[in-house]
Amino acid sequence: MSTPADLIALAQRHVLPVYRPRELVLERGDGARLWDSEGREYVDLSSGIAVCGLGHNDPDLVAALVEQAGKLWHTSNVFYSEPPLRLVAELVEASGFATRAFLCNSGAEANEAAIKLVRKWATAQGRGPHRRVIVTARGSFHGRTLAAVTATAQPKYQAGYEPLPGGFRYIDFNDIGQLEDAMASGDVAAVMLEPVQGEGGVMPAADGYLAAVPVPTKKTETSRSKISAKCRATRPSTSLLPYAAPATPASRARASATAGCAPDQLSDEKIM
Ligand SMILES: Cc1ncc(COP(=O)(O)O)c(C=O)c1O
Repeated sequence: MSTPADLIALAQRHVLPVYRPRELVLERGDGARLWDSEGREYVDLSSGIAVCGLGHNDPDLVAALVEQAGKLWHTSNVFYSEPPLRLVAELVEASGFATRAFLCNSGAEANEAAIKLVRKWATAQGRGPHRRVIVTARGSFHGRTLAAVTATAQPKYQAGYEPLPGGFRYIDFNDIGQLEDAMASGDVAAVMLEPVQGEGGVMPAADGYLAAVPVPTKKTETSRSKISAKCRATRPSTSLLPYAAPATPASRARASATAGCAPDQLSDEKIM
């Protein structure tokens, strides 16, 4: 049996060092408690960075996953199976705005899909590539894939990955004047925001800020694309409803807590 020191040495030899993990090996969890391989107990204050919305070892979630694993593993999305169809119907109904949902594997993938939907929508509006700009806020976090990290207006996540994809414009979060200036030239196709920024401090949108993003109409031709911050999505019981007011997005990507880390999804409306 490997000791924690053996396992840490293995990690240091073979794991690509994108994070700096603590030098301990976690073994099991129950609710909000965790235990390491030496039996030490911890309170999990980060819930796997806000993905274990139901805590660890939730009996209902485990039972549902075990039952499904015994029936059908993976079908790809060229076939239907009942559980995702029921999930999609529930998500759409709970959203209060969406007509369709897209299930995917990560927050970054959901945001990539939102970016592609916006560009496709703008193309269908007859907008050339230079009029498909997506405005995002400094201090945001949208994922680590190339487009999502470009939408993430934080140089520390982008440095070294240049050239970054074009078509993004950055503003200070909660500054309505900057939002209006960023949109003044008429080339903006979407505004992509977290209702609560989670990176670099928990920063809620100020009163009236989300409502200041123009509603998509033929006149403004701008779609709202709102990304739900993980710090809100950790409470599955709140469902999608709190985001319906005061600003209804055209597209909403939700992060990993929705199904206790499996899976993520994007729900969207008439921008397809
Ligand atoms: C607000 C937000 N959006 C997107 C992501 C990316 O999600 P994932 O790590 O599942 O790709 C995260 C991840 O922390 C996030 O907090």
